[in-house]
Amino acid sequence: MSRKIHIFDTTLRDGEQVPGAKLNRRQKLEIAEQLAKLGVDVIEAGFPCSSPEDLQAVRSVAEQVKGPVIAGLARAVPQDIDIAWEAVQKAERPRIHVFLGSSDIHLQKKLRQDRESALQRAVDAVRYAKKYCEDVEYSTEDASRSDFEYLCRVVDACIQAGATVINIPDTVGYAIPDQFGELILKLKETVPALDRVRLSVHCHNDLGLAVANTLAAVRNGAEQVECTINGVGERAGNASLEEIVMAIRTREAFFDAHTDIRTTEIYRTSRMVSRLMNIPVQPNKAIVGANAFAHSSGIHQDGILKDRSTYEIIRPEDVGIKAHTLVLTARSGRAALRHRLKELGYDLTPEQFERVHQRFLNVADRKKEISSQDLNSIVEIELSKVPETYTFESLQIMSGSTMTPLASVTLMKEGTAFTDAATGNGPVNAVFNCIERIIGQQGTLRDYDLKAVTMGKDALGEAMVRVEIGGAIYSGIGTSPDVIEASARAYVNAFNRFFANSH
Ligand code: KIV
Ligand code: ZN
Repeated sequence: MSRKIHIFDTTLRDGEQVPGAKLNRRQKLEIAEQLAKLGVDVIEAGFPCSSPEDLQAVRSVAEQVKGPVIAGLARAVPQDIDIAWEAVQKAERPRIHVFLGSSDIHLQKKLRQDRESALQRAVDAVRYAKKYCEDVEYSTEDASRSDFEYLCRVVDACIQAGATVINIPDTVGYAIPDQFGELILKLKETVPALDRVRLSVHCHNDLGLAVANTLAAVRNGAEQVECTINGVGERAGNASLEEIVMAIRTREAFFDAHTDIRTTEIYRTSRMVSRLMNIPVQPNKAIVGANAFAHSSGIHQDGILKDRSTYEIIRPEDVGIKAHTLVLTARSGRAALRHRLKELGYDLTPEQFERVHQRFLNVADRKKEISSQDLNSIVEIELSKVPETYTFESLQIMSGSTMTPLASVTLMKEGTAFTDAATGNGPVNAVFNCIERIIGQQGTLRDYDLKAVTMGKDALGEAMVRVEIGGAIYSGIGTSPDVIEASARAYVNAFNRFFANSH
Protein backbone atom coordinates (compact mmCIF):
# COMPACT_ATOMS: atom_id res chain seq x y z
CA MET A 1 0.00 0.00 0.00
CA SER A 2 1.33 3.42 -0.91
CA ARG A 3 1.80 6.20 1.70
CA LYS A 4 -1.27 8.21 2.58
CA ILE A 5 -0.89 11.97 2.14
CA HIS A 6 -3.13 13.90 4.52
CA ILE A 7 -4.97 16.81 2.97
CA PHE A 8 -5.17 19.86 5.24
CA ASP A 9 -7.52 22.37 3.66
CA THR A 10 -7.05 26.01 4.65
CA THR A 11 -9.52 27.62 2.22
CA LEU A 12 -11.52 28.93 5.19
CA ARG A 13 -8.44 30.48 6.85
CA ASP A 14 -5.54 31.33 4.50
CA GLY A 15 -7.94 31.36 1.54
CA GLU A 16 -10.29 33.72 3.28
CA GLN A 17 -7.51 36.26 3.82
CA VAL A 18 -8.02 37.45 0.21
CA PRO A 19 -9.43 41.02 0.30
CA GLY A 20 -13.17 41.02 -0.46
CA ALA A 21 -13.51 37.24 0.01
CA LYS A 22 -14.70 37.35 3.64
CA LEU A 23 -17.22 34.63 4.40
CA ASN A 24 -19.97 34.77 6.97
CA ARG A 25 -20.82 31.92 9.35
CA ARG A 26 -23.44 30.37 7.05
CA GLN A 27 -21.10 30.45 4.05
CA LYS A 28 -18.22 28.92 6.03
CA LEU A 29 -20.50 26.13 7.15
CA GLU A 30 -21.67 25.46 3.60
CA ILE A 31 -18.08 25.18 2.36
CA ALA A 32 -16.97 23.12 5.36
CA GLU A 33 -19.80 20.60 4.77
CA GLN A 34 -18.70 20.31 1.16
CA LEU A 35 -15.02 19.88 2.18
CA ALA A 36 -16.11 17.02 4.42
CA LYS A 37 -17.91 15.43 1.42
CA LEU A 38 -14.76 15.92 -0.62
CA GLY A 39 -12.93 13.87 2.01
CA VAL A 40 -10.28 16.29 3.28
CA ASP A 41 -8.51 15.11 6.44
CA VAL A 42 -8.30 18.49 8.16
CA ILE A 43 -10.35 21.66 7.79
CA GLU A 44 -8.65 24.78 9.11
CA ALA A 45 -11.86 26.68 9.76
CA GLY A 46 -10.40 30.07 10.64
CA PHE A 47 -8.32 32.27 12.91
CA PRO A 48 -10.69 32.57 15.86
CA CYS A 49 -8.96 35.46 17.63
CA SER A 50 -9.12 37.62 14.47
CA SER A 51 -12.75 38.63 15.14
CA PRO A 52 -15.78 37.59 17.23
CA GLU A 53 -17.52 36.61 13.95
CA ASP A 54 -14.70 34.26 13.01
CA LEU A 55 -14.75 32.72 16.48
CA GLN A 56 -18.48 32.01 16.02
CA ALA A 57 -17.96 30.66 12.51
CA VAL A 58 -15.17 28.28 13.59
CA ARG A 59 -17.27 27.18 16.57
CA SER A 60 -20.22 26.36 14.26
CA VAL A 61 -17.99 24.35 11.93
CA ALA A 62 -16.51 22.47 14.91
CA GLU A 63 -19.96 21.67 16.29
CA GLN A 64 -21.65 20.70 13.06
CA VAL A 65 -19.16 19.27 10.57
CA LYS A 66 -18.38 15.62 11.17
CA GLY A 67 -15.48 13.61 9.78
CA PRO A 68 -12.39 15.77 9.32
CA VAL A 69 -10.20 17.17 12.09
CA ILE A 70 -11.23 20.80 12.71
CA ALA A 71 -8.32 23.16 13.32
CA GLY A 72 -8.22 26.75 14.58
CA LEU A 73 -5.15 28.96 14.11
CA ALA A 74 -3.43 30.83 16.97
CA ARG A 75 -0.32 32.97 17.33
CA ALA A 76 2.08 31.73 19.98
CA VAL A 77 0.39 33.71 22.75
CA PRO A 78 -1.85 32.31 25.50
CA GLN A 79 -4.83 34.54 24.68
CA ASP A 80 -4.97 33.37 21.04
CA ILE A 81 -4.66 29.75 22.16
CA ASP A 82 -7.49 30.21 24.70
CA ILE A 83 -9.75 31.57 21.95
CA ALA A 84 -8.72 28.90 19.43
CA TRP A 85 -9.64 26.23 21.98
CA GLU A 86 -12.94 27.95 22.75
CA ALA A 87 -13.70 27.69 19.01
CA VAL A 88 -12.68 24.10 18.27
CA GLN A 89 -13.29 22.24 21.53
CA LYS A 90 -16.66 20.80 20.47
CA ALA A 91 -15.26 19.18 17.33
CA GLU A 92 -15.17 15.39 17.10
CA ARG A 93 -11.42 15.76 16.53
CA PRO A 94 -10.14 19.25 17.48
CA ARG A 95 -6.70 20.61 16.66
CA ILE A 96 -4.97 23.82 17.78
CA HIS A 97 -2.55 25.17 15.19
CA VAL A 98 0.11 27.46 16.66
CA PHE A 99 2.60 29.44 14.60
CA LEU A 100 5.59 31.71 15.14
CA GLY A 101 8.26 33.06 12.79
CA SER A 102 11.58 31.23 12.68
CA SER A 103 13.55 33.25 10.10
CA ASP A 104 15.88 36.04 11.23
CA ILE A 105 13.91 38.42 9.02
CA HIS A 106 10.71 37.66 10.95
CA LEU A 107 12.44 37.52 14.34
CA GLN A 108 14.31 40.79 13.94
CA LYS A 109 12.00 42.88 11.79
CA LYS A 110 8.53 41.68 12.83
CA LEU A 111 8.76 40.06 16.25
CA ARG A 112 11.81 41.99 17.52
CA GLN A 113 12.85 38.94 19.46
CA ASP A 114 16.14 37.01 19.59
CA ARG A 115 16.34 33.35 18.53
CA GLU A 116 16.57 31.91 22.06
CA SER A 117 13.58 33.76 23.46
CA ALA A 118 11.52 32.93 20.34
CA LEU A 119 12.42 29.25 20.76
CA GLN A 120 11.30 29.37 24.38
CA ARG A 121 8.09 31.12 23.35
CA ALA A 122 7.36 28.38 20.80
CA VAL A 123 7.88 25.65 23.42
CA ASP A 124 5.73 27.49 25.98
CA ALA A 125 2.97 27.94 23.40
CA VAL A 126 2.93 24.24 22.46
CA ARG A 127 2.86 23.25 26.15
CA TYR A 128 0.07 25.74 26.80
CA ALA A 129 -2.02 24.44 23.85
CA LYS A 130 -1.33 20.88 24.95
CA LYS A 131 -3.12 21.53 28.27
CA TYR A 132 -6.33 21.86 26.25
CA CYS A 133 -5.88 19.64 23.24
CA GLU A 134 -4.08 16.40 22.44
CA ASP A 135 -3.59 17.35 18.78
CA VAL A 136 -1.33 20.42 18.45
CA GLU A 137 0.21 21.51 15.16
CA TYR A 138 3.22 23.84 15.22
CA SER A 139 4.20 25.96 12.20
CA THR A 140 7.64 27.51 11.81
CA GLU A 141 6.51 30.54 9.82
CA ASP A 142 8.89 31.56 7.00
CA ALA A 143 10.74 28.24 7.39
CA SER A 144 12.18 28.32 3.88
CA ARG A 145 14.14 31.51 4.73
CA SER A 146 15.23 30.31 8.17
CA ASP A 147 18.68 29.26 9.31
CA PHE A 148 18.69 25.46 9.02
CA GLU A 149 20.37 24.70 12.38
CA TYR A 150 17.94 26.98 14.20
CA LEU A 151 14.96 25.51 12.32
CA CYS A 152 16.02 22.02 13.43
CA ARG A 153 16.30 23.16 17.05
CA VAL A 154 12.83 24.72 16.99
CA VAL A 155 11.29 21.64 15.36
CA ASP A 156 12.94 19.27 17.85
CA ALA A 157 11.99 21.42 20.87
CA CYS A 158 8.36 21.68 19.77
CA ILE A 159 8.13 17.91 19.31
CA GLN A 160 9.59 17.39 22.81
CA ALA A 161 6.96 19.88 24.08
CA GLY A 162 4.18 17.72 22.63
CA ALA A 163 3.46 18.90 19.06
CA THR A 164 1.76 16.16 17.00
CA VAL A 165 2.22 17.82 13.60
CA ILE A 166 5.17 19.97 12.46
CA ASN A 167 4.40 22.24 9.53
CA ILE A 168 7.14 23.76 7.36
CA PRO A 169 5.72 26.78 5.53
CA ASP A 170 7.16 28.51 2.51
CA THR A 171 5.31 31.59 3.72
CA VAL A 172 6.48 33.99 1.02
CA GLY A 173 6.66 31.55 -1.89
CA TYR A 174 10.46 31.84 -2.06
CA ALA A 175 11.37 28.16 -2.37
CA ILE A 176 12.40 26.27 -5.52
CA PRO A 177 11.23 22.64 -5.83
CA ASP A 178 14.64 20.87 -5.68
CA GLN A 179 15.73 22.99 -2.78
CA PHE A 180 12.46 22.64 -0.86
CA GLY A 181 12.43 18.86 -1.35
CA GLU A 182 16.00 18.74 -0.04
CA LEU A 183 15.05 20.86 2.98
CA ILE A 184 12.35 18.32 3.91
CA LEU A 185 14.74 15.39 3.41
CA LYS A 186 17.50 17.03 5.45
CA LEU A 187 15.09 17.93 8.24
CA LYS A 188 13.98 14.32 8.51
CA GLU A 189 17.60 13.14 8.58
CA THR A 190 18.68 15.74 11.14
CA VAL A 191 15.74 15.62 13.56
CA PRO A 192 15.05 11.95 14.37
CA ALA A 193 12.07 12.97 16.55
CA LEU A 194 10.22 13.83 13.33
CA ASP A 195 9.54 10.09 12.97
CA ARG A 196 7.12 10.37 15.91
CA VAL A 197 4.99 13.15 14.41
CA ARG A 198 3.40 14.05 11.09
CA LEU A 199 5.50 16.30 8.86
CA SER A 200 3.52 18.87 6.89
CA VAL A 201 4.22 21.57 4.30
CA HIS A 202 2.41 24.79 3.44
CA CYS A 203 3.45 26.58 0.23
CA HIS A 204 2.54 29.95 -1.22
CA ASN A 205 2.50 30.74 -4.89
CA ASP A 206 4.46 33.98 -5.27
CA LEU A 207 6.73 32.44 -7.93
CA GLY A 208 4.00 30.17 -9.29
CA LEU A 209 5.71 27.17 -7.63
CA ALA A 210 3.39 26.35 -4.72
CA VAL A 211 2.15 23.04 -6.16
CA ALA A 212 5.60 22.05 -7.49
CA ASN A 213 7.19 22.75 -4.09
CA THR A 214 4.47 20.80 -2.31
CA LEU A 215 4.94 17.80 -4.60
CA ALA A 216 8.73 17.95 -4.15
CA ALA A 217 8.13 17.82 -0.40
CA VAL A 218 5.80 14.82 -0.81
CA ARG A 219 8.50 13.02 -2.79
CA ASN A 220 10.90 13.66 0.07
CA GLY A 221 8.76 12.50 2.94
CA ALA A 222 6.08 15.10 3.77
CA GLU A 223 2.87 13.37 4.86
CA GLN A 224 0.50 16.31 5.17
CA VAL A 225 0.00 19.06 2.61
CA GLU A 226 -1.73 22.36 3.32
CA CYS A 227 -3.67 23.75 0.41
CA THR A 228 -6.79 25.59 -0.72
CA ILE A 229 -9.54 25.06 -3.26
CA ASN A 230 -8.77 26.91 -6.53
CA GLY A 231 -5.45 27.93 -4.96
CA VAL A 232 -7.05 30.98 -3.30
CA GLY A 233 -5.03 32.66 -0.57
CA GLU A 234 -2.78 35.53 0.48
CA ARG A 235 -1.23 37.43 -2.44
CA ALA A 236 -0.65 34.94 -5.31
CA GLY A 237 -2.44 32.28 -3.29
CA ASN A 238 -1.71 28.91 -1.71
CA ALA A 239 -1.00 25.55 -3.30
CA SER A 240 -4.12 24.37 -5.09
CA LEU A 241 -5.78 21.31 -3.56
CA GLU A 242 -7.18 19.99 -6.83
CA GLU A 243 -3.83 20.20 -8.60
CA ILE A 244 -1.93 18.41 -5.83
CA VAL A 245 -4.56 15.71 -5.47
CA MET A 246 -4.85 15.02 -9.19
CA ALA A 247 -1.06 15.03 -9.66
CA ILE A 248 -0.67 12.43 -6.92
CA ARG A 249 -3.54 10.38 -8.32
CA THR A 250 -2.46 10.60 -11.97
CA ARG A 251 1.17 9.78 -11.09
CA GLU A 252 0.52 7.49 -8.12
CA ALA A 253 3.35 5.09 -8.99
CA PHE A 254 5.85 7.95 -9.23
CA PHE A 255 4.89 9.38 -5.85
CA ASP A 256 4.15 6.01 -4.29
CA ALA A 257 1.44 7.86 -2.42
CA HIS A 258 -2.30 8.42 -2.42
CA THR A 259 -4.90 10.69 -0.82
CA ASP A 260 -8.41 9.87 0.41
CA ILE A 261 -10.04 12.66 -1.61
CA ARG A 262 -13.29 11.82 -3.47
CA THR A 263 -12.13 13.41 -6.68
CA THR A 264 -15.62 13.45 -8.21
CA GLU A 265 -16.50 16.19 -5.68
CA ILE A 266 -13.67 18.46 -6.86
CA TYR A 267 -15.54 20.43 -9.50
CA ARG A 268 -18.57 21.07 -7.32
CA THR A 269 -16.33 22.27 -4.46
CA SER A 270 -14.40 24.54 -6.80
CA ARG A 271 -17.61 26.16 -8.10
CA MET A 272 -18.94 26.63 -4.59
CA VAL A 273 -15.78 28.34 -3.35
CA SER A 274 -15.61 30.56 -6.43
CA ARG A 275 -19.27 31.57 -5.98
CA LEU A 276 -19.20 32.21 -2.24
CA MET A 277 -15.88 34.06 -2.29
CA ASN A 278 -16.72 35.88 -5.50
CA ILE A 279 -13.37 34.91 -7.00
CA PRO A 280 -13.66 33.73 -10.61
CA VAL A 281 -11.59 30.75 -11.72
CA GLN A 282 -9.27 31.59 -14.63
CA PRO A 283 -10.38 29.68 -17.79
CA ASN A 284 -7.02 27.90 -18.23
CA LYS A 285 -6.75 26.86 -14.55
CA ALA A 286 -5.60 23.24 -14.34
CA ILE A 287 -8.29 20.70 -13.36
CA VAL A 288 -11.20 23.13 -12.79
CA GLY A 289 -10.86 25.93 -15.39
CA ALA A 290 -13.52 26.21 -18.11
CA ASN A 291 -10.96 25.14 -20.73
CA ALA A 292 -9.25 22.40 -18.72
CA PHE A 293 -10.95 19.70 -20.82
CA ALA A 294 -11.81 21.70 -23.97
CA HIS A 295 -9.99 20.54 -27.10
CA SER A 296 -10.06 23.16 -29.83
CA SER A 297 -7.41 22.34 -32.44
CA GLY A 298 -8.48 20.03 -35.26
CA ILE A 299 -5.61 17.60 -34.70
CA HIS A 300 -6.45 17.27 -31.01
CA GLN A 301 -10.17 16.86 -31.69
CA ASP A 302 -9.41 14.15 -34.21
CA GLY A 303 -7.22 12.35 -31.66
CA ILE A 304 -9.82 12.64 -28.91
CA LEU A 305 -12.52 11.22 -31.18
CA LYS A 306 -10.30 8.21 -31.95
CA ASP A 307 -9.19 7.63 -28.39
CA ARG A 308 -9.47 10.05 -25.45
CA SER A 309 -6.10 8.97 -24.04
CA THR A 310 -4.34 10.68 -26.98
CA TYR A 311 -4.79 14.13 -25.45
CA GLU A 312 -6.41 13.56 -22.04
CA ILE A 313 -4.58 12.40 -18.91
CA ILE A 314 -7.59 12.89 -16.63
CA ARG A 315 -11.17 12.00 -17.47
CA PRO A 316 -13.45 15.01 -16.81
CA GLU A 317 -15.89 12.75 -14.96
CA ASP A 318 -13.10 11.83 -12.49
CA VAL A 319 -13.20 15.39 -11.15
CA GLY A 320 -17.00 15.59 -11.35
CA ILE A 321 -17.47 17.22 -14.78
CA LYS A 322 -20.19 15.41 -16.70
CA ALA A 323 -20.86 15.24 -20.45
CA HIS A 324 -24.31 16.54 -21.44
CA THR A 325 -26.76 15.56 -24.10
CA LEU A 326 -29.69 17.97 -23.69
CA VAL A 327 -29.59 21.42 -25.29
CA LEU A 328 -31.34 23.97 -23.11
CA THR A 329 -33.35 26.75 -24.78
CA ALA A 330 -36.22 29.07 -23.79
CA ARG A 331 -38.58 26.23 -24.67
CA SER A 332 -36.94 23.69 -22.36
CA GLY A 333 -39.26 22.81 -19.53
CA ARG A 334 -38.64 22.80 -15.82
CA ALA A 335 -37.85 19.05 -15.90
CA ALA A 336 -35.00 19.52 -18.38
CA LEU A 337 -33.59 22.39 -16.34
CA ARG A 338 -33.86 20.36 -13.14
CA HIS A 339 -32.12 17.42 -14.83
CA ARG A 340 -29.21 19.53 -16.06
CA LEU A 341 -28.80 21.25 -12.68
CA LYS A 342 -28.56 17.85 -11.07
CA GLU A 343 -25.96 16.75 -13.63
CA LEU A 344 -23.95 19.86 -12.80
CA GLY A 345 -24.04 18.87 -9.15
CA TYR A 346 -26.48 21.46 -7.78
CA ASP A 347 -28.82 20.36 -5.06
CA LEU A 348 -31.22 23.31 -4.90
CA THR A 349 -34.08 23.96 -2.49
CA PRO A 350 -37.47 24.54 -4.21
CA GLU A 351 -37.16 28.25 -3.50
CA GLN A 352 -33.64 28.39 -5.03
CA PHE A 353 -34.86 26.41 -8.05
CA GLU A 354 -37.67 28.94 -8.64
CA ARG A 355 -35.20 31.83 -8.61
CA VAL A 356 -32.85 30.04 -10.98
CA HIS A 357 -35.75 29.10 -13.27
CA GLN A 358 -36.95 32.73 -13.46
CA ARG A 359 -33.47 33.96 -14.29
CA PHE A 360 -32.95 31.11 -16.77
CA LEU A 361 -36.14 32.14 -18.64
CA ASN A 362 -35.12 35.77 -18.61
CA VAL A 363 -31.69 34.96 -20.11
CA ALA A 364 -32.98 32.27 -22.50
CA ASP A 365 -35.41 34.80 -23.99
CA ARG A 366 -32.41 36.78 -25.18
CA LYS A 367 -30.00 33.95 -26.00
CA LYS A 368 -30.51 30.97 -28.32
CA GLU A 369 -28.93 28.19 -26.27
CA ILE A 370 -27.99 28.03 -22.62
CA SER A 371 -24.72 26.16 -22.15
CA SER A 372 -23.53 24.48 -18.96
CA GLN A 373 -21.16 27.40 -18.33
CA ASP A 374 -24.08 29.84 -18.74
CA LEU A 375 -26.07 27.81 -16.28
CA ASN A 376 -23.19 27.66 -13.80
CA SER A 377 -22.94 31.42 -13.95
CA ILE A 378 -26.70 31.90 -13.50
CA VAL A 379 -26.92 29.49 -10.57
CA GLU A 380 -23.85 30.78 -8.84
CA ILE A 381 -24.98 34.35 -9.04
CA GLU A 382 -28.51 33.54 -7.88
CA LEU A 383 -27.21 31.47 -4.97
CA SER A 384 -24.62 34.01 -3.89
CA LYS A 385 -27.26 36.69 -3.54
CA VAL A 386 -27.44 38.18 -0.11
CA PRO A 387 -30.86 39.41 1.10
CA GLU A 388 -31.77 41.92 -1.57
CA THR A 389 -32.43 45.38 -0.18
CA TYR A 390 -32.59 46.56 -3.80
CA THR A 391 -33.31 44.48 -6.90
CA PHE A 392 -32.41 45.48 -10.42
CA GLU A 393 -35.48 46.09 -12.60
CA SER A 394 -34.47 47.81 -15.84
CA LEU A 395 -32.24 50.38 -17.48
CA GLN A 396 -32.03 52.63 -20.54
CA ILE A 397 -28.88 54.15 -21.97
CA MET A 398 -28.23 56.98 -24.40
CA SER A 399 -24.64 56.92 -25.50
CA GLY A 400 -22.49 57.67 -28.54
CA SER A 401 -19.03 58.85 -29.52
CA THR A 402 -20.07 62.54 -29.56
CA MET A 403 -22.39 62.77 -26.55
CA THR A 404 -22.17 62.46 -22.77
CA PRO A 405 -23.65 59.07 -21.84
CA LEU A 406 -26.96 59.28 -19.99
CA ALA A 407 -28.46 56.36 -18.05
CA SER A 408 -31.82 55.83 -16.45
CA VAL A 409 -32.15 52.94 -14.01
CA THR A 410 -35.08 51.46 -12.09
CA LEU A 411 -34.49 49.52 -8.87
CA MET A 412 -37.14 47.91 -6.65
CA LYS A 413 -37.17 48.18 -2.89
CA GLU A 414 -39.91 46.46 -0.85
CA GLY A 415 -42.26 46.42 -3.87
CA THR A 416 -41.75 50.08 -4.80
CA ALA A 417 -39.96 51.14 -7.99
CA PHE A 418 -37.31 53.87 -7.76
CA THR A 419 -36.11 55.46 -10.98
CA ASP A 420 -33.44 58.09 -11.51
CA ALA A 421 -31.13 59.33 -14.25
CA ALA A 422 -27.47 60.32 -14.30
CA THR A 423 -24.63 61.06 -16.69
CA GLY A 424 -21.13 59.59 -16.58
CA ASN A 425 -17.86 59.46 -18.46
CA GLY A 426 -19.03 56.21 -20.09
CA PRO A 427 -22.26 54.21 -20.14
CA VAL A 428 -21.23 51.90 -17.28
CA ASN A 429 -20.11 54.86 -15.18
CA ALA A 430 -23.45 56.62 -15.88
CA VAL A 431 -25.33 53.51 -14.70
CA PHE A 432 -23.22 53.26 -11.53
CA ASN A 433 -23.79 56.97 -10.77
CA CYS A 434 -27.49 56.43 -11.26
CA ILE A 435 -27.58 53.45 -8.88
CA GLU A 436 -25.75 55.51 -6.22
CA ARG A 437 -28.30 58.33 -6.60
CA ILE A 438 -31.20 55.94 -6.08
CA ILE A 439 -29.59 54.21 -3.12
CA GLY A 440 -28.34 57.49 -1.62
CA GLN A 441 -24.91 56.04 -0.85
CA GLN A 442 -21.56 56.65 -2.53
CA GLY A 443 -19.26 53.83 -3.59
CA THR A 444 -15.73 53.88 -5.02
CA LEU A 445 -15.12 51.33 -7.73
CA ARG A 446 -11.86 49.51 -6.89
CA ASP A 447 -12.00 46.72 -9.44
CA TYR A 448 -14.14 45.94 -12.47
CA ASP A 449 -13.95 42.82 -14.56
CA LEU A 450 -16.12 41.78 -17.45
CA LYS A 451 -15.93 38.48 -19.24
CA ALA A 452 -17.89 36.41 -21.69
CA VAL A 453 -19.01 33.16 -20.09
CA THR A 454 -18.93 31.34 -23.44
CA MET A 455 -17.74 31.99 -26.99
CA GLY A 456 -19.91 33.55 -29.70
CA LYS A 457 -21.76 36.77 -30.41
CA ASP A 458 -24.64 35.99 -28.08
CA ALA A 459 -22.33 35.06 -25.17
CA LEU A 460 -23.53 35.72 -21.66
CA GLY A 461 -21.59 38.54 -20.00
CA GLU A 462 -20.45 38.19 -16.41
CA ALA A 463 -19.43 41.33 -14.54
CA MET A 464 -17.51 41.39 -11.28
CA VAL A 465 -16.97 44.52 -9.22
CA ARG A 466 -15.21 45.37 -5.99
CA VAL A 467 -16.59 48.54 -4.48
CA GLU A 468 -15.44 50.45 -1.41
CA ILE A 469 -18.50 51.44 0.57
CA GLY A 470 -18.27 53.00 4.02
CA GLY A 471 -14.58 52.08 4.38
CA ALA A 472 -14.83 48.37 3.49
CA ILE A 473 -14.61 46.48 0.20
CA TYR A 474 -17.69 44.61 -1.06
CA SER A 475 -17.67 42.43 -4.13
CA GLY A 476 -20.60 42.01 -6.46
CA ILE A 477 -21.30 39.81 -9.43
CA GLY A 478 -23.95 40.04 -12.16
CA THR A 479 -24.77 38.27 -15.38
CA SER A 480 -26.78 39.13 -18.49
CA PRO A 481 -26.55 38.86 -22.27
CA ASP A 482 -26.26 42.68 -22.07
CA VAL A 483 -22.90 43.64 -20.54
CA ILE A 484 -24.14 46.98 -19.18
CA GLU A 485 -27.03 45.23 -17.46
CA ALA A 486 -24.57 42.61 -16.07
CA SER A 487 -22.49 45.50 -14.68
CA ALA A 488 -25.56 47.16 -13.13
CA ARG A 489 -26.60 43.88 -11.49
CA ALA A 490 -23.07 43.42 -10.10
CA TYR A 491 -23.04 46.96 -8.67
CA VAL A 492 -26.42 46.49 -6.99
CA ASN A 493 -25.20 43.11 -5.64
CA ALA A 494 -22.20 44.84 -3.99
CA PHE A 495 -24.48 47.41 -2.31
CA ASN A 496 -26.79 44.61 -1.11
CA ARG A 497 -23.77 42.97 0.53
CA PHE A 498 -23.01 46.27 2.22
CA PHE A 499 -26.58 46.50 3.55
CA ALA A 500 -26.56 42.84 4.65
CA ASN A 501 -23.36 43.51 6.58
CA SER A 502 -24.62 46.68 8.26
CA HIS A 503 -27.78 45.03 9.69
O1 KIV B 1 1.98 31.02 5.27
C1 KIV B 1 2.14 30.73 6.47
O2 KIV B 1 3.25 30.67 7.00
C2 KIV B 1 0.93 30.47 7.26
C3 KIV B 1 1.14 29.90 8.63
C4 KIV B 1 0.20 30.51 9.62
C5 KIV B 1 1.02 28.42 8.56
O3 KIV B 1 -0.16 30.65 6.78
ZN1 ZN C 1 -0.05 30.68 4.57
